[in-house]
Amino acid sequence: MPYPKPTRRSWAEPWKVKMVEPIRMTTRPQRERCIVEAGYNTFLLRSEDVYIDLLTDSGTNAMSDNQWAGMMLGDEAYAGSRNFYHLWEAVTEYYGYKYLVPTHQGRGAEHILSKIMIKPGDFVPGNRYFTTTRLHQELAGGTFVDVIIDEAHDPANEHPFKGNVDFGKLQRLIDEVGAKKIPYVSVAGTVNMAGGQPQSMANLRALRELCSRHGIPIVLDATRAIENAYFIQQREEGYRNKKVAEILKEYCSYADSSTMSAKKDTLTNIGGWLATNDQGLFEEARNMVVVYEGLHTYGGLAGRDMEAMARGIVESVDDDHMRARIGQVEYLGQHLIDWAIPIVRPIGGHAVFLDARAIYAHIPQSQYPAQALAADLYIDSGVRSMERGAVSAGRDPKTGEERFPKLELVRLTLPRRVYTQAHTDVAAESVLAVYEQREQARGLKMVYEPKYLRFFQARFEQI
Ligand code: F0G
Repeated sequence: MPYPKPTRRSWAEPWKVKMVEPIRMTTRPQRERCIVEAGYNTFLLRSEDVYIDLLTDSGTNAMSDNQWAGMMLGDEAYAGSRNFYHLWEAVTEYYGYKYLVPTHQGRGAEHILSKIMIKPGDFVPGNRYFTTTRLHQELAGGTFVDVIIDEAHDPANEHPFKGNVDFGKLQRLIDEVGAKKIPYVSVAGTVNMAGGQPQSMANLRALRELCSRHGIPIVLDATRAIENAYFIQQREEGYRNKKVAEILKEYCSYADSSTMSAKKDTLTNIGGWLATNDQGLFEEARNMVVVYEGLHTYGGLAGRDMEAMARGIVESVDDDHMRARIGQVEYLGQHLIDWAIPIVRPIGGHAVFLDARAIYAHIPQSQYPAQALAADLYIDSGVRSMERGAVSAGRDPKTGEERFPKLELVRLTLPRRVYTQAHTDVAAESVLAVYEQREQARGLKMVYEPKYLRFFQARFEQI
């Protein structure tokens, strides 16, 4: 077959590979054994038994030579490390926040923020939940209220900004419980659990106006805000000629504070922060961080990790980097769309989300079709993915009932700068192979259920 003539200019990554990490190929019988031992939970597999690891984009990034060089310049002083000041400068320059409290990762910042801001009986509205974020809100005595637009719950809906807040839903909550019972509105860009979907600039700007009228602060989960900024550049009127860095700064300017898992956008393996313009919150957080994380100039991190973050921020806002990063996710997603495999549309920023409810339509949600699909993918090819459906949603803390979300998804998450186009092809072909065998798939029953964030450690057996 002749090599097909390209219909347009290709793009390629703005980097080349300097060091490689061998990965192990396994056989199908080996993988069948491994997944049984792991209780059909991809979190419980050993990484050595995984061929292509699309579990998460969290802490799995490849750092640049410049970041590694920075690691050697770690100032491992207990107090006042110079790398802390580099990080603070980078966060202020690119995200725009005045004050910075470093934490070991995102949930460290969520813990401190929730403890400070939420009182028992409060309500925290958000554009869909994230697992750790909601748990910290609940542990602080709050109740999470989903105020994302309805389109976000429909995998087939092509809305360009499915991460948007529905102001009708938010206003109803304010009218019902009163602004005093809402310590802040929690917004994330992009929205992980909705399929990596962005929020528009117009939506956050309007939210700012609404919240200011009621005296309610906004806390941004900035974990993937740079990917969100890229989508604004591509999809929102008036932003086509602006740099991602410029868009990021405007986006963050509408939120009073932000929590961050720096293990994603900012191209590192560990790290996080709480950043704010509110001096009172800063002082409380700076005090509380010494109880739970470490001194306020390292927050559980080594000096070298803070240096890698500071340098990673600069690299991550580069337009060419973002084009290649999201371009790879699109490349994977487009294959699946071309083969008519149901995925969340539009294709997300950090991952392609398979619609397990549609793919395994014969398996009821109480038998965890997404969990089963992730296990089947692993058995087929050694590609590791993650359930993002009923298992992740867990139980209602008040009633103890299982939550069955509309979205029952499997996430194929692309680590940044790690895998090649060929790896992506292998993953896509494996999804196709499993899709073609879908009628033979069987559901799962949960045989072990931990109390918190059950998806990490739950165990299953095939029905
Ligand atoms: N917020 C968002 C949007 C996240 O995606 C994550 C982590 C966190 C907060 C918590 O940060 O892991 O550094 O403590 N998401 C990972 C994932 C675990 O795979 O999506 P953390």
